[in-house]
Amino acid sequence: MPHPDALHWDHRYTHETSRRVPRSPHHLVTGHLDLFPSKGLVLDMACGTTSTGRFLASRGLRVIALDVSIAALRLAQLEVRKDALPVSMAVMDLTAPWLPREYFDVILNFYYLSRPLWQIYREALKPGGLLLFETFLCEADMNPEHYLDSLELKNIFDDWEIIRYAEIQRTSHLPDHPSKKRRVAQLVARKPKEKNEILNP
Ligand SMILES: C[S@@+](CC[C@H](N)C(=O)[O-])C[C@H]1O[C@@H](n2cnc3c(N)ncnc32)[C@H](O)[C@@H]1O
Repeated sequence: MPHPDALHWDHRYTHETSRRVPRSPHHLVTGHLDLFPSKGLVLDMACGTTSTGRFLASRGLRVIALDVSIAALRLAQLEVRKDALPVSMAVMDLTAPWLPREYFDVILNFYYLSRPLWQIYREALKPGGLLLFETFLCEADMNPEHYLDSLELKNIFDDWEIIRYAEIQRTSHLPDHPSKKRRVAQLVARKPKEKNEILNP
C-alpha cells in the first residue's frame, strides 16, 4: 500500500509545474558557505529535487539525498546526471528513520518537519558538524504537527553553537497563494566538537 505522503507528494511533483522547474539553492546555505568543509558528506533530508544538494555537490561535497517521493527523485536524477554530480538518492519515509552515528558533516532540513528527527540529527552529525534547518512557523490556520512554534527549534539545539537563528517573513511560492507571506524559522547550528556531549533524552 502506498505511503500517504508519497501519494500526496508524487502527485504534486507530477502535476505542479512550479515543482518541476529547477530551483536555486536555499539562501541559508549560500549565505553560510564559509562554514562548509571543502570535502565531506552532506545529508539532504526530504530533499525534493535537491537543488541545494546539487549545488553543494558541484562544489566538491558528496551528497546523500532522501525523500519519500519517487517523482521528486526522478526529477532530481535528471539534473544530477546532466552534470555527473556526486549525489546518491534513495526513496524513504523520513518520519523517524535510523541513521548511522556521527557519520555526516552537514545535514540539511528544508521545509519538512518531523520532530523525532531532531534527536536522530544530534546523533548522526559528526562532532563539529553543521545543521541547516528552515521551515514554516505555525500560524492560526495551520496544523501544529507540521509547523514550528516560535523559538522551538532554537530551544532544541540551544546546547549547540547557534550561528544563526531567525524568524522572518517569506513570500510563499505556492501556486495557489503566490503572494502570501509566511513566517519561517531559520537555524544554522554546529554540534559541539567534544565527544562526550550529553545528548537530549
Ligand atoms: C516543501 S518540499 C521541500 C523539498 C526540499 N527540502 C526543498 O526545500 O526544496 C517537502 C518535501 O518533503 C518530502 N516529504 C514529505 N513527507 C515525507 C516523508 N514522510 N518522508 C520523506 N520525505 C517526505 C516531500 O516529498 C517533499 O519533497
